[in-house]
Amino acid sequence: MTSPRKTYIIANWKMNFTPGEASLYLHRLEKRITPSRNVQVILAPSTVALQPLSLQINRRQFKLAAQNFYWRDYGAYTGETSVSQLRGFVDYAIVGHSERRYVFNESEEDIAKKVAAAIRNNLTPILCIGETAMERKDGETAAAIYSQLINGLHEVSKEDISKIIIAYEPVWAISSNKNARPAKPADIDEAQILIRKHVSKLFGKTASEQIPVLYGGSVNSDTAGGYLSINGIDGLLIGGASLIADSFCAIVETAKGMKKYE
Ligand code: PGA
Repeated sequence: MTSPRKTYIIANWKMNFTPGEASLYLHRLEKRITPSRNVQVILAPSTVALQPLSLQINRRQFKLAAQNFYWRDYGAYTGETSVSQLRGFVDYAIVGHSERRYVFNESEEDIAKKVAAAIRNNLTPILCIGETAMERKDGETAAAIYSQLINGLHEVSKEDISKIIIAYEPVWAISSNKNARPAKPADIDEAQILIRKHVSKLFGKTASEQIPVLYGGSVNSDTAGGYLSINGIDGLLIGGASLIADSFCAIVETAKGMKKYE
């Protein structure tokens, strides 16, 4: 028998909105997005807005995600916020976003430790992977995906793989990059097949079928439906378009209209 498969729509607000602006924006979304059993809407505001928004949200309607955190639980790490400090506010944590990898030089080792820290603190890590324009040009897309997966999941056990979400975000498709261009559905399909193949090799067939794989990169309300109709794509990670209520609400509506089954 087939059962509905959850679709994840994640808003990555990046370094936008003051806490006050984030609260007002959330207020607008609250009025327009109704809770749904099949579509999980996750908001990732700046760290400074997590605590106030956690008091404001209805958790049946929205969940919160951290955009970043440090992997140690506490200690003398000036300027950092640990996942154990955040876990009362969020249910999810984005890990290994390309802006963290390439702007802040986050290493594969840091990323693996962050994935493990999120799981240790009962949060679901959303592990972002994806090749750069150069890697794609050099025919190294598959190798890049494989190495980011194997490194990022290095500390994850077979029991814990079911607690992870993978987001395929080719760096050349993310709107913050110069010359960004949206990925073609065929590229995304190829990538999700590769991701599931590697997860199968590392963690077994069931894990590879069940792990949610999302797409992110210049998604907007016109393109969301096409991406969501790719078999094996379980949702979207949205940057720019998530900052505009009309666009974001339209994407959520599209997702609600497309039930996915396994
Ligand atoms: P974008 O960002 O939708 O603005 O391309 C996606 C992301 O960086 O996660």
